[in-house]
Amino acid sequence: MIETGNTGRTWLLTGASSSYALRLTEQDELVHLHWGPRISLAAAEALAAAPELPFRAFESHLDGREEYPVEGGPRFVRPALSVRTPEVRGTEWAFAAASVDGDELRIGFTDSVHRLALTLHYRMRDDSDVVERWATVAHAGADGPPLELLRADAAAWSLPARDGWRLSRLHGRWAAESRLARAELTHGESVISSRRGHTGHQYLPWVALDADGAATEESGEVYGCALGWSGSWRISVQRLPDGLVQITGGAGYDDSGLLRLAPGESYTTPVFAGLWSGQGFGGASRAWHAWQLAHVIPDAHKPRPVLYNSWEATGFDISLDQQRALAERAAAMGVELFVVDDAWFGQRTSDRAGLGDWTANPDRFPGGLKPLADEVHGLGMQFGIWVEPEMVNADSDLYRAHPDWVQHFPGRARTEYRNQLVLNLARPDVQEYLWEQLDTLLSGTPVDYVKWDFNRCFTDAGWPGEEYPQKLWIEHVDALYALIDRLRAAHPSVAFESCSGGGGRIDLGILSRTDQVWTSDNTDPLDRLAIQEGFGHIHPARVMAAWVTDSPNHQLNGRVSSLRFRFVSAMAGVLGVGGDLTEWSEEELAEARSWVDLYKEIRPVVQYGALYRLREPRGGLSAVQYVHGEETVVLMWLEAQRYGERPPALRLRGLDPAATYTCLDTGTVHHGSALLHQGLHTELQGDLDARVLRLRRG
Ligand code: GLA
Repeated sequence: MIETGNTGRTWLLTGASSSYALRLTEQDELVHLHWGPRISLAAAEALAAAPELPFRAFESHLDGREEYPVEGGPRFVRPALSVRTPEVRGTEWAFAAASVDGDELRIGFTDSVHRLALTLHYRMRDDSDVVERWATVAHAGADGPPLELLRADAAAWSLPARDGWRLSRLHGRWAAESRLARAELTHGESVISSRRGHTGHQYLPWVALDADGAATEESGEVYGCALGWSGSWRISVQRLPDGLVQITGGAGYDDSGLLRLAPGESYTTPVFAGLWSGQGFGGASRAWHAWQLAHVIPDAHKPRPVLYNSWEATGFDISLDQQRALAERAAAMGVELFVVDDAWFGQRTSDRAGLGDWTANPDRFPGGLKPLADEVHGLGMQFGIWVEPEMVNADSDLYRAHPDWVQHFPGRARTEYRNQLVLNLARPDVQEYLWEQLDTLLSGTPVDYVKWDFNRCFTDAGWPGEEYPQKLWIEHVDALYALIDRLRAAHPSVAFESCSGGGGRIDLGILSRTDQVWTSDNTDPLDRLAIQEGFGHIHPARVMAAWVTDSPNHQLNGRVSSLRFRFVSAMAGVLGVGGDLTEWSEEELAEARSWVDLYKEIRPVVQYGALYRLREPRGGLSAVQYVHGEETVVLMWLEAQRYGERPPALRLRGLDPAATYTCLDTGTVHHGSALLHQGLHTELQGDLDARVLRLRRG
């Protein structure tokens, strides 16, 4: 709901349990009033009427208080917007108009010198506490020189005055993504970003702040911000000299030039979403999850199937017979989607060749992929394939025909990573080539699922012959989005997974057009617990793919673990299997079948339930709980038992203390009050033990 104050210059947005308020001053400054628990319009107007700050030389009365600080005038914070022409740098705004359209508020400004129009967008839905913010910047002149956008963030968020703040972030690297780290927010600027052309393994584009480090999993105020952009990006959290905190975020990693706008052209930023929760980090996660399931993830109401992926089993050495053998075992195990990962196309017998040539390798699949797809369908499974469309190997027909289609600088080396180069997707001819190749592929083969990979960062982001080559950082991502959108529209039954060497492209932008993401190339079930814990702070289990692979884990660390531990770890997300099933014994295959059966039973609770992180995976006992309607599922893991001590009792959350809950395996009836207060003993012991507990109310 959006309310407008009497003067027409104060606005109050109200969601499920919180409010957001802002006002326009007589000088057309757009200042922040409130972000937190629900308030009334009268309270917002009273805040708007508060006296101005006293004037002090060397201080800005705007810093830390503006909704969208720009470069120019009495401001010294990092600007959200920076614009220049050869003569004038920065902007000076006049209010133009405000409008409310359903749950969206738009506030427009103009700069008469630049002939620039700026619109700030706010959306808060009735069923959520997430505020979606973005901006559009347009060159409104009919003629004249282009305007250079050095930077255009999506939004700036202001936090209320508190004594201090703690900053949480999700950091990582390849095979070690989304690990939670928390530290006091010191004065100055804390920046997380990607300079790599994709979202990156190094940070999920998310931060959370709690006042004085006082929030816990289930109590206290938490502010969160998350960016929906799959290219380079930056989120900057500034603690200003007077202690106020401002958070800006948007596309691009610095302020050195994003785009040029010719007369009539405009740029729309990605969405930078913000969330206030009064219920701790757990409450914040659940609110993020509910919003993504309701408003971001496509077809979120369709549960994700159990998949088999051949990558760890067969690598680059694949054949029809071998895939068939895997498919038969996967089907017998209850797998619902069989994915051929890599090496099925072009001359792709190693990572040295083939990327760019998206037709089946004729030696390996003489009749194309259709015979295998038909067999997989005959076994009762969906059929999926792996692609990496934005890349090309130098050893490929595509590169031999079009060496100028890759990002490069004239006269400079073309850096290869994994023996591959990045196609310049900003070029319309490259876009059209990829569309034709992929549309033909999906039209000629009955494919149900596409795993879309991206296995290297940008390094030589040049575009010879183009006047403003750096626009490719933005336009690559725009073209990627447009290509996926077009493929989805033309092939609506095909589901997409976003992958980038594991979790290198996970953000709200890609999640608004893909059905799930590959969380990490790290399939070690113990490491995964921490990776999955971090992931769950922002994204729901419904999109978090997790595979059971071989033991010892030959991808990474040689760790030996039981099938039980591997399954219960992977059952915390979208379950998949990725081991070499031809090497699994009959007993292992049978045990796996029973785990897959169990997962199908608990799937609605895991994929759609409210998540409670009961104990963090930091050695010893850890557990997560999902509550969905009458059903509760607890997944618990014991890393190592010490001194023969019994692991601590596990206290559950989110239950009704007055209700009883029946264990679906033993029939034991538990009182909600006891589960919440005393907890229950897990019966876990030794090293790497795990268990699934299912409770039904009543
Ligand atoms: C990336 C992915 C893996 C696999 C390989 C194939 O590393 O993350 O899951 O698809 O590429 O080359």
